[in-house]
Amino acid sequence: MTDSTAHNVNSIAPAIRVLAAKDSVCPLVRFSEQVDSDAPKITLSDEAAAEQVINTLNEAAPFESKLAVEGVGTFEMIWDENLAGRVAGKVIIVTGAAQGFGLEIAQNLAAQGAYVVLADINADEAQKQADLLRNQYGSDRAMAIAMNVTDLASIEAAISEVITFYGGFDAFISNAGVLKAESVKTQPEKDFEFSTAVNYKGYFLCTQVASKILALQHQANPAYRSDIIQINSKSGLVGSNRNAAYAGSKFGGIGLTQSFALELIEDGIKVNSICPGNFFDGPLWSNPDNGLFVQYLRTGKVPGAKTIEDVKRFYEAKVPMRRGCTTPDVMAAVYYLIEQQYETGQAVPVTGGQVMLH
Ligand SMILES: NC(=O)c1ccc[n+]([C@@H]2O[C@H](COP(=O)([O-])OP(=O)(O)OC[C@H]3O[C@@H](n4cnc5c(N)ncnc54)[C@H](O)[C@@H]3O)[C@@H](O)[C@H]2O)c1
Repeated sequence: MTDSTAHNVNSIAPAIRVLAAKDSVCPLVRFSEQVDSDAPKITLSDEAAAEQVINTLNEAAPFESKLAVEGVGTFEMIWDENLAGRVAGKVIIVTGAAQGFGLEIAQNLAAQGAYVVLADINADEAQKQADLLRNQYGSDRAMAIAMNVTDLASIEAAISEVITFYGGFDAFISNAGVLKAESVKTQPEKDFEFSTAVNYKGYFLCTQVASKILALQHQANPAYRSDIIQINSKSGLVGSNRNAAYAGSKFGGIGLTQSFALELIEDGIKVNSICPGNFFDGPLWSNPDNGLFVQYLRTGKVPGAKTIEDVKRFYEAKVPMRRGCTTPDVMAAVYYLIEQQYETGQAVPVTGGQVMLH
């Protein structure tokens, strides 16, 4: 696809989606470069401004199942009346979805009727996991995309792929995150920069790209609302001993959330963070080679700990509810944020009582 066609698709497909919505549920809008001679046809000037695209589409509405755009291609609208669940019919992108929280969030959203996009720098594993979801729920219901959240061009290319396949999206979950725990006295500068690039800058870049599409959908239909949700951490709310690079990047993420929220209200986008406690069962903690239990044992972060079990017990004892955070705990916050229509810019703790707001 040429850059010019991609530009046109990115401004036409999201607008068609929301203009064709029934009972607030948008169809999938799938693009193909062939101009279908049987479909109703419209003409737009090359790289037309959003307002012109929306006006021309409004004149062409109501749509049949296909709409051809002269010199661009054909947009097919696809409805699935059988979807059920708390996010039925929504298209939701989750970054860092090849494993851990991101994967389990995507799996839970798919079970609740969403079309899910598994975006990850580990494209092979994301593809493997998306294939499992497609086998379980149907070939339209999941897609994998390669995305490096620290690289603007990679994010733009990935979002273009989503628009070509689904037509747009309704929520963006910025979950990709990394952690390298070490004392400020010894941590190499490159490790600090790595955490900052993924956890802080990555969230900024993803919001920059995603918000343009979500804003366009709101422009086409002012009643349309969407969500950006950052998976932050309890370490975004209180400092973390010998873990400053991570905590600093997460504190910064909350500053971004509050600022994005203020700015993007006019585009119908709610922006919130979720601050989970420790997910002991996930690979970040439990990976036997480089998980946090092993890292913390090696770096002596837990005084007197001699085994991984000692480290785990130390962390569980810090939680008033005496257990780690799980994906169902996080999903309760995800659905709250998507369903409520009167809150933005918040950081919602999900910590078993470990962190309390003041
Ligand atoms: N695990 C926890 O205890 C815990 C607690 C609170 C918050 N969190 C947050 O939850 C999120 C997910 O954590 P997790 O434990 O599931 O992590 P994880 O390490 O298990 O998975 C992270 C995923 O992000 C991907 N990723 C890394 N860098 C990327 C990049 N540049 N671009 C795209 N993808 C990239 C990885 O390939 C991986 O699939 C993170 O933001 C983390 O800070 C985790």
